Amino acid sequence: MVKHSDRRPGVPAVNPAKAHPLPQDSEPAQFFAVASPGLESLVAEELRRLDYLPGATTGATTDHSNELEGGVEFSGDIRALYRANLRLRTASRVLVRLGEFRAVGFYELRKKATRLPWERYLHPGQPVSLRVTCRKSRLYHSDAVAERILGAISDRLNHLSPAQPYDEDSASGEVQLVVVRFLHDICTISIDSSGAGLHRRGYRQAVAKAPLRETLAAGMLLAAGWDLSAPLIDPFCGSGTVAIEAAMLANARPPGLERKFAFMNWPGFDPTIWQQLRRSTTSLSPSPKPLIHASDRDAGAIKMAQENAARAGVGDFIEFKQQAFSAITPVGRGWVVTNPPYGVRVSAAQDLRNLYAHLGDVLRKQCPGWHYAILCNDDKLLAQLRLAETGRLQLVNGGIPVNLVMGQISSRNRNAD
Ligand SMILES: C[S@@+](CC[C@H](N)C(=O)[O-])C[C@H]1O[C@@H](n2cnc3c(N)ncnc32)[C@H](O)[C@@H]1O
Repeated sequence: MVKHSDRRPGVPAVNPAKAHPLPQDSEPAQFFAVASPGLESLVAEELRRLDYLPGATTGATTDHSNELEGGVEFSGDIRALYRANLRLRTASRVLVRLGEFRAVGFYELRKKATRLPWERYLHPGQPVSLRVTCRKSRLYHSDAVAERILGAISDRLNHLSPAQPYDEDSASGEVQLVVVRFLHDICTISIDSSGAGLHRRGYRQAVAKAPLRETLAAGMLLAAGWDLSAPLIDPFCGSGTVAIEAAMLANARPPGLERKFAFMNWPGFDPTIWQQLRRSTTSLSPSPKPLIHASDRDAGAIKMAQENAARAGVGDFIEFKQQAFSAITPVGRGWVVTNPPYGVRVSAAQDLRNLYAHLGDVLRKQCPGWHYAILCNDDKLLAQLRLAETGRLQLVNGGIPVNLVMGQISSRNRNAD
């Protein structure tokens, strides 16, 4: 079960010696794995398992100092950057720290930004999209900051780099995203290495009502502590995201195997390293085939979920069924991980209170001893479940704050079971 960590807010300190990362060679550079709110500690845990943060294999006390609001810092060489994009399931994207400096005037900003090694990431004249935030700094006008950074890039590459809007979902790498952050007069400039958000695994072309982001579904499974081999049920599966992410996890199938990344467009991209990394994932050991059941009362949703699972290469690992949640037939003891409908996103007119009360009864009767993790935005609905709660994670789904409540189901049909 995931515990909340102490997070340091603010800009991470970049070691000046590493302010100019060298992604073409083995010199370590600094990276930042962006996480949607609430997922930071899960991203950090994934980085620990990939050995990019201390604590995974050493058994040392976990160090949370790399976890910041909005993401996790780590360092490594170019392989680490490619591998993080290939393997991270809960991060939204991975940034490379290009440089950090103090600037209190626009002339100073442009001059210092011109010294950065933009040529490692951009082709002359390549369009860029600048995402600028300014807080508590003398340079507070983000459009004016963006203009100076664009000027610096053009000065450095001797070509005008046009600014273009960034489409998070369909970015192909043609437009390079540059993230600029001013805090207390310190300017931190980062280059995005991912392109389209990492939730875009490529398998989900069909979506039912209110689909979950793939990164959030993976986060639910990791937070719930699913052991990868026990049975897993999602009785409100919609487009199948939770079940598909579960099957990919159990199969040790990397989420980025079939997609393109922004770093593939960089002048120094090394396709040999990338292919080696892709090939090496075939030796990852899958768990014994778990029973993953996904059901929904909507026939259209089940069809989409099946198509999505087939595209993800895990169609054989999930049993799909069109049925009401009350018809689940659990075998053994496992995990129920799901997001039932809730007011804001589906139909506010439904009697959701009854649905949640009924769900609690069904789980007590049919899944005693099972673990559960249920995502919902409404505490009143969650209270209707009348399930004992042992953990809670505050997350954001589609811009709406939600809670993932977790616990173990007992068979007693009482208020505080
Ligand atoms: C919030 S959506 C789930 C979205 C899903 N996690 C995804 O990623 O696509 C809730 C789903 O519950 C289904 N549903 C609503 N009432 C149901 C019921 N009584 N039994 C089974 N499924 C139900 C809806 O058809 C809908 O697909």
